[in-house]
Amino acid sequence: MKTLDRLRTGMSRDRVFDFMMPTTGLEVDVSHGILLYLEGVTVSFDGFKAIDNLNLYLEAGELRCIIGPNGAGKTTMMDIITGKTRPQRGSVHFGQNIDLLRLSEPEIAQVGIGRKFQKPTVFESHTVFENLEMAMSGDKRVWPTFRARLNGEQKDQIDKMLETIGLVDQRADTAGSLSHGQKQWLEIGMLLMQDPHLLLVDEPVAGMTHQEMERTADLLTSLAGRHTVVVVEHDMDFVRSIARKVTVLHQGSVLAEGSMEEVQNDRRVVEVYLGG
Ligand SMILES: Nc1ncnc2c1ncn2[C@@H]1O[C@H](COP(=O)(O)OP(=O)(O)OP(=O)(O)O)[C@@H](O)[C@H]1O
Ligand SMILES: [Mg+2]
Repeated sequence: MKTLDRLRTGMSRDRVFDFMMPTTGLEVDVSHGILLYLEGVTVSFDGFKAIDNLNLYLEAGELRCIIGPNGAGKTTMMDIITGKTRPQRGSVHFGQNIDLLRLSEPEIAQVGIGRKFQKPTVFESHTVFENLEMAMSGDKRVWPTFRARLNGEQKDQIDKMLETIGLVDQRADTAGSLSHGQKQWLEIGMLLMQDPHLLLVDEPVAGMTHQEMERTADLLTSLAGRHTVVVVEHDMDFVRSIARKVTVLHQGSVLAEGSMEEVQNDRRVVEVYLGG
């Protein structure tokens, strides 16, 4: 953590590594403690409201679980935050100062929003270390040809990441030889190399062994604080193991919000989701 801080400060001071600088030059203002504001957001697909007047607020540094039945709008909500889908109504702000609806998808990534899709997208023929090395460059187009001349601090940064994601022993292995769970951790590590403020993770434990699920729970909970983490997941044992605040989405808006215990005992939540 300290290393990353130093690296960041160093970078902003002398701008040695221009390829890592956000081209938008925007730094999110979280002086009110809120990292993300979704207000009155509505998205329709052919007249069907996938997101319906959604209000959602994320505190800086929190770990938020989002649950809800199939089709509730969980993935669409992530699509809105990352700029893949544009709402017809409402506002989406990153901190006090950044209107995400005015930014392109790459710009949204650059202001510090990382997204982990369900299917891991690592470079299979490269080593674990090289994958993290490539991920240091924010521009994905140059990844396969990217060769950084790593200085000591950058090597330290990768070593620390290998520890964080539990792949120290696999550093020289090709990503293709990793287990499904290990690939997921590697991809999370690649996203973390950009040190995002917000990390969105959609169904991280699908297809994982029980042991992999436990390690994923440790990993995601360890990220909160420095990062704000949003986890969408159907596996309730997993959600229970990491849950702080839980939001239940239903028909495109928030049905309930609170601790796992509170939402589990909410009659409406039991009816639409947990009851089955
Ligand atoms: N691009 C699209 N075009 C048309 N309809 C869409 C599109 N994307 C999502 N939808 C619809 O919007 C609704 C919400 O879908 P979404 O994928 O956000 O749900 P979800 O909560 O992620 O569900 P799941 O738990 O199954 O992943 C669904 O009815 C879905 O069919
Ligand atoms: Mg989904």
